[in-house]
Formats: sequence, structure tokens, C-alpha cells
Amino acid sequence: MNEGPIQAPAEFYHPSTDFLSQVNIPDPDALRREATDDLEGYWARRAKELEWYAPWTTVLDSSNAPFFQWFVGGKTNIVLNALDRHVKTWKRNKLALIWEGENGDVRTFSYHALNREVCKFANVLKSMGIMKGDRVTIYMPRIPETVIAMLATAKIGAVHSVVYGGFSVESLHGRIEDSESKVIITADGGYMNGKTVELKKIVDEALQRTAAPENVVVVRHTGKDVNMEAGRDYWYHELMALPLTRNSLKCETEVMDAEDPLFILYTSGTTGLPKAILHTHGGYQVGVHATLTDVFDLKEEDRWWCTADPGWITGHSYIVYGPLLAGATSFMYEGAPTFPYPDRWWAMIEKYGISILYTTPTAIRGLMRFGEAWPNRHDLSSLRLLGSVGEPINPEAWKWFHKNIGKNKCPIMDTWWQTETGMFMIAPLPAMSLKPGSGSKPYPGVIADVVDEEGVPVKTGEEGFLVLKTPWPAMMRTIYKDPERYVKSYWSKYPGMYLAGDSARRDKDGYYWIIGRVDDVIKVSGYRLGTAELESAFISHPSVAEAAVIGLPHEIKGIAIHAYVILKNGYTPGEALVEELKHHIGHEMGPIAKPEKIEFVPSLPKTRSGKIMRRVLKARAQGMHEGDLSTLED
Ligand code: PRX
Repeated sequence: MNEGPIQAPAEFYHPSTDFLSQVNIPDPDALRREATDDLEGYWARRAKELEWYAPWTTVLDSSNAPFFQWFVGGKTNIVLNALDRHVKTWKRNKLALIWEGENGDVRTFSYHALNREVCKFANVLKSMGIMKGDRVTIYMPRIPETVIAMLATAKIGAVHSVVYGGFSVESLHGRIEDSESKVIITADGGYMNGKTVELKKIVDEALQRTAAPENVVVVRHTGKDVNMEAGRDYWYHELMALPLTRNSLKCETEVMDAEDPLFILYTSGTTGLPKAILHTHGGYQVGVHATLTDVFDLKEEDRWWCTADPGWITGHSYIVYGPLLAGATSFMYEGAPTFPYPDRWWAMIEKYGISILYTTPTAIRGLMRFGEAWPNRHDLSSLRLLGSVGEPINPEAWKWFHKNIGKNKCPIMDTWWQTETGMFMIAPLPAMSLKPGSGSKPYPGVIADVVDEEGVPVKTGEEGFLVLKTPWPAMMRTIYKDPERYVKSYWSKYPGMYLAGDSARRDKDGYYWIIGRVDDVIKVSGYRLGTAELESAFISHPSVAEAAVIGLPHEIKGIAIHAYVILKNGYTPGEALVEELKHHIGHEMGPIAKPEKIEFVPSLPKTRSGKIMRRVLKARAQGMHEGDLSTLED
């Protein structure tokens, strides 16, 4: 019998005895002890759950810290574990991927079928001259070809750089140029909210601003007419139909060193323009596989749905690689949660029998707005576990999710992690008791802390900087082309500690509560944007002399963008210009970056060295005390 949660006086939610009787990790403390007592032994054991062409000689090499290396000497390829090892077993006939388009199209891929497509496309990439170490930009809607392109790139040892399909011209251009990609894989377009997003058009425009890569591969998805430049642009389906070699259905997986790069993923930073976070084959696969199977209790019969986009780290780790490494069945949906009605997600959970749903606080708050009647129309009894990621979840949304979607029987795994960490860092294990709004404790082997300006741990319940004190296998290895920035951004403020960029508290039970970013990163609806990138997009408009952006609380989005703009002489402030600037930001960066509010101002608060004091703007906007103004220039 399912007992449901017992709400103990101390705000804890306990898993039911039924649930506890079947969890993969019945004793979280024992696992934590194992990892703390022998970090390397723990991770070596977890690495042995995967296949290696040749074993490692050293589990963790810290001799050149913070450039940590994992499983040194080991030979592998993430595709060996995500596909090759499964197609040798009965799993070849298990569904790897179930996909539903916004218009209702359904496509399914068994491990066998997915492997076949990946092999074919890997041969296409090879025929275009893509070799080990070359970068490949993937700018796609949420369709199966995104997954195929990522795996094919990894299979041949090339490095993928996925750019979120919601980004636009300037964001894409910057990322293509910095990565020096030889090929771009895109689509004619994608569906979102009943409209089409014309990705190929954005690629064409971005390529006018940059030294063009040699080739563009275009997946036909919407069927709309697109410009195809002879000699540069090729249709995916035509390339896939060519008898490329005598054996185009087969492709050997490239044998990689554990420390060889797997992908770069651009993310907004503490300061300056986006940086390319670099992850490698060996450690990343171990960390992602272990965390997914433990935290989400993954079982052979589960149907896993992570609602993220492959263009962000959540999609890399827990749509594409994690589920495939675990040999699971993953569901992927192309479009908007409310299209055509606000019960689209709930209808699909019922239709496909989804058992684990991993999503974002913004999505929950957005759907909550439409009321309980929408989920109540559907049978959601297949669900057994829920998850949240990307931003702090407010207890109200947590409780709504728990009651109306989880029907009071599904624990919610609130996972704190980052593009940089590659895998969950602070997250419950499902046998643990939960507190709404807290990600609970660090994953086994992860030592976190909350410290003050000087790096001294703060008292229980006090706010401070979140740091990590032990290395972990899925950690970023460096910033591509900028190792100095890697050291400076993450490892310099406190020696020997990784600076996360978040503020947090730890309560008397050792549970962590993430408060939010303390740097120039703004999390809009959980999407990570940087003030520098936003401000430079503003300045690229002819009317703007200077701009400053800040994030302010928003009921649905968590945080929304507010911009302060100084106009050049000759431009008149007004509603028309506000609209034009919003449109401009949408065109340059993408719809997610559109500011909530734009204000024209005669000056901006700056330090004597000319740095904009965003904290002053923020305090003013919220009617709060402006704090120490001694460094203010004016
Ligand atoms: O501020 C934290 C927030 O998202 C940041 C990392 O963003 P990104 O690299 O885009 O990765 C997002 C998906 C892993 C963190 O520094 N964040 C992420 N998860 C949570 C969170 N804040 C609170 N609770 C979370 N569960």
C-alpha cells in the first residue's frame, strides 16, 4: 500500500515505505561515507560500471591542480558506453528515444536504430573532412537529429558545440567564430508555440558576420523554403541517402583518451562575454551515469523525461548522455508546454507512461497558473519521481508540483549543479527526507561549504558564498582557449576551493538552500545569461550610448531583465524606442533575452574605474538601501 508522505513537524517530507522498499540507494549515508573515506576508490568503482577500451593507471591526478585529470591513461569514448555496449545485448531492441513534435508527429528509435543513424551521420561528417579534435556547431530545434548529431560528432572524436536554438544571430555568430567550427548542423526550422523558428535564416545571417565555416548541413523539419548556398549547404537527408562508403551503416568508434575533449558549451560568465566550458570523455561519462542512476533511481523499465533543451548542460547530461549511458528510455518533446492547451505535458505523461519527470521551477510556476483542473484531467499515475533544476524552487511551486503532479507520492529531486560541474552536485538521494526549496545535501564525494568574504565557513543558517572543496569526475577541465580565465574565475578567490558564483545557506540539518547568483550572471526562467553579452547587444543598436542590465524578481520567470539605457544625442526616449530595442535584443540574442523593462536614464552609477555598480541599480529598483557608496564616482 502506498502510504503517501508523512509531514513531520520539522517541515520534512518523507518517502513512503513502498517507495523506500525499491530504491537503488537505500542507505544514502553509507554511500556518502564510502565516497568520503576513499574518494578515488569510490569513483573507480563507479567507473567500472562502464566499459573502457583500456583501463586507467591513475584515478585522479591533482599534480597540476586546478587542472585536475581523471582516469588518466584510460581509453574510452562516451559513445562506446552510450550506444556500442547496448547494441551488443538485448537492449538493441529497447527504445532509446521516443520523440513527439509540437504538431503531434511521433518518432521512436530503438538502440539499434539510433546507433544506425549515428553511424551513418558519423560517416557523413568524416566525408566532409571532420577529424578528431575538430569543432562542430550544432544549432537545432529539439528533434532527434540533434541527439544523432551530438553522438556522431563524439563517435569520431570531434568536439561538439551545441548552441541553444533559442539564441539568435549575434549569440550564434560569436559562438561559431570563437569555436572555429568547420561545419554547422542546423534545420530549416523548428516549431515552438504554434510558430516556426527559422533557424537556417539565422544561420545565414550569422555567417554573413563571420569567416564562414566550410559546410552547413540542414535537416528538413518544417519543410519551409530556405536558402541553400551551392557548395556550402547540404541537405541532411540527401547526405544520409548517399552510399558514402561501401559500408556506410558501420563506423568504428574512435578510441579516445579519457581526458580528450568531448564538447564545449558556451555559458555566461562572471564577467565578460560567454566562455566555452570544456568537458572530456572519461570523467564526464562516469559522473553523469552515477548521478542519474542514483539521484533519479533509474530502473530498466522507467520512462525518463527531462524537459530541458539539448542546447543547455541539462540537455547534454540528462537528455542525451545520461539516459543513454544508463541504457534507459528517454522521452523528448519539441515544443511549448502550453501548446495547444495547458495540459500538453500532462497528456503526454499519460500517453507515454512517463515515470520520471525532470523539469524547471519556471515551467512549474507557469503551468501552476492555469490551475489544477488541467493536470486533473489526466491519469498521471505512471509517475514515481519528479525533479527540478536551474533556479531555486519556491516552496509554493514545490508543494503544488508535489500534490498535483506527484499526487503526494513522488519525491522531488531538487538538483543544484552548473554547466561547469557537468553533473548533479547538491541533490537528494530518493531515500532521503525532503524540505521544499532545498536541494538537501551534496552528492556522495562532493564536499561543499558556505564561506564568507575571507573563505571562512559561516555559521549555520547564515548566507555566504557556495564553494566546493573536492574535485569530481565530470568537472569542467578548462575554458577552451583560455586556461587563465578558468583559474581566475573559479579557483582564485579562495585557494583550493571552487567558487560556484551562488550564495547559499546551510541549515541545522546540513541541508543547503541556494539563494541565487552573486555575480554578473542572470538566470531568466532558469536560462543563464550574462550582463556583458546583454549590454553589448544593447550597444550594437545605433541609438544606445551605454547600457546596464540587472535581474529583478519575477513571479513566473524567477528573475527578469531590467535595462537602463543612456541614449546617444538625437534619439528621443519613448515607447516606440523601447519596443524597437526589445525587438533588437530578441533579434541579436534571442527571445529569452528580451528585457522585461527598459528605462532611459541620463547617467549610470559607476565606480571611479568606470565599472557599472549594478548593485546600486538593483537596490534602487527594489526601494532598498543602496549600501556602501564610497566607491561611487558620481
Ligand atoms: O545559480 C545556480 C542555478 O543555475 C546556475 C547554473 O546555471 P547553468 O550553468 O545554466 O546550469 C543550469 C542547469 C544545471 C547555478 O549556479 N541553479 C541550478 N540548479 C539550481 C540552481 N539554483 C537553485 N536550485 C537549483 N536546483
